[in-house]
Amino acid sequence: MKILVINGPNINMLGIREKNIYGAGTYEDLLDFCRNAAEELGVEVSFFQSNHEGDLVDAIQHAYKVIDGIVINPAAYTHTSVAILDALKAVSIPAVEVHISDVSKREDFRQISYVRQYCFKTITGMGFEGYKEAMKALLSEISNGAEKQ
Ligand code: DQA
Repeated sequence: MKILVINGPNINMLGIREKNIYGAGTYEDLLDFCRNAAEELGVEVSFFQSNHEGDLVDAIQHAYKVIDGIVINPAAYTHTSVAILDALKAVSIPAVEVHISDVSKREDFRQISYVRQYCFKTITGMGFEGYKEAMKALLSEISNGAEKQ
């Protein structure tokens, strides 16, 4: 099973940005964490990060017929991007929304999520661990789907 982990703007600044909110781990640490989790779960993982909305849309489109499941933290674009939602709908790949912080306890403008309308699960406030939980959720969702066929 092939999982693509997509991260949006400023996630490359982990370890530097607002450590009180996002922790001290860097983006590289996040990738290492996900690689280890993927090995433990027996899935193949690849990564994409961009600060640009259109590049995130392109990455989702390129996943069509190549990737089985998407873990997506659209970061600030969570709260603004219809284009990312539409891209997920277009490729129709099972996806889980992840946020490192607990967005439900933050500003009003973070209470809207466009991708939530598509993603079958949302995980917030678990730090890096949320990405592993998302991979687990994809594994069970996809294997359940396969059983039903
Ligand atoms: C975030 C939460 C967003 O509101 C914020 O814009 C981010 C990161 C998170 O992982 O907690 O950049 O998606």
